[in-house]
Amino acid sequence: MDVLQAIKERRSIRKYEPKAVPEEKLTQILESGRWAPSASNSQPWRFIVVRDEKVKNELARVAVYGSFMAQAPVAIAVVIDPQASNHPVEDGAAATQNMLLAAHALGLGTCWIGSYGSGYEERAKEVLGIPRDKRLLALTSLGYPAESPTKDRVELSELVCHDRHTGD
Ligand SMILES: Cc1cc2nc3c(=O)[nH]c(=O)nc-3n(C[C@H](O)[C@H](O)[C@H](O)COP(=O)(O)O)c2cc1C
Repeated sequence: MDVLQAIKERRSIRKYEPKAVPEEKLTQILESGRWAPSASNSQPWRFIVVRDEKVKNELARVAVYGSFMAQAPVAIAVVIDPQASNHPVEDGAAATQNMLLAAHALGLGTCWIGSYGSGYEERAKEVLGIPRDKRLLALTSLGYPAESPTKDRVELSELVCHDRHTGD
């Protein structure tokens, strides 16, 4: 699939078929995360692949707006090391987005689960055994989509200005 098509067509998927994710596809998705840009090529990330039902269910419980993760066959956690880069959040976000796009191109669905606030990150870190000095940047559910949602975006004409910032 063309990258421009993948960018436009990818939607957050919150309902999944009860069908396993093939290992080759999972590897391709993780590879896409690995090839993301990062500040000074610092690559300050680890990707935790969660398939264990008990761990996944526990994560779904603590990630307040990600309870649908329990129904997805896989979850991927993107962990960043804040000491390893000057821009760890941007680096981790780039890796996450690469994986979402790769998954879509491979016919799979994802949903980036942030669930900020509510002490979610600390509780999810405990569930995944993530060391205190690392950050859990993102979780994404992964599986074959069982829904085809649509979404709008703000018009380009409202987003783009030329040479100087104009408007709000
Ligand atoms: C940083 C971030 C955090 C998000 N957290 C959640 C979440 O906790 N639960 C959820 O259902 N969707 C979450 N989303 C998905 C957004 O709701 C979704 O991307 C947005 O509504 C646009 O829809 P689309 O992805 O289908 O284009 C998150 C997305 C981002 C980028």
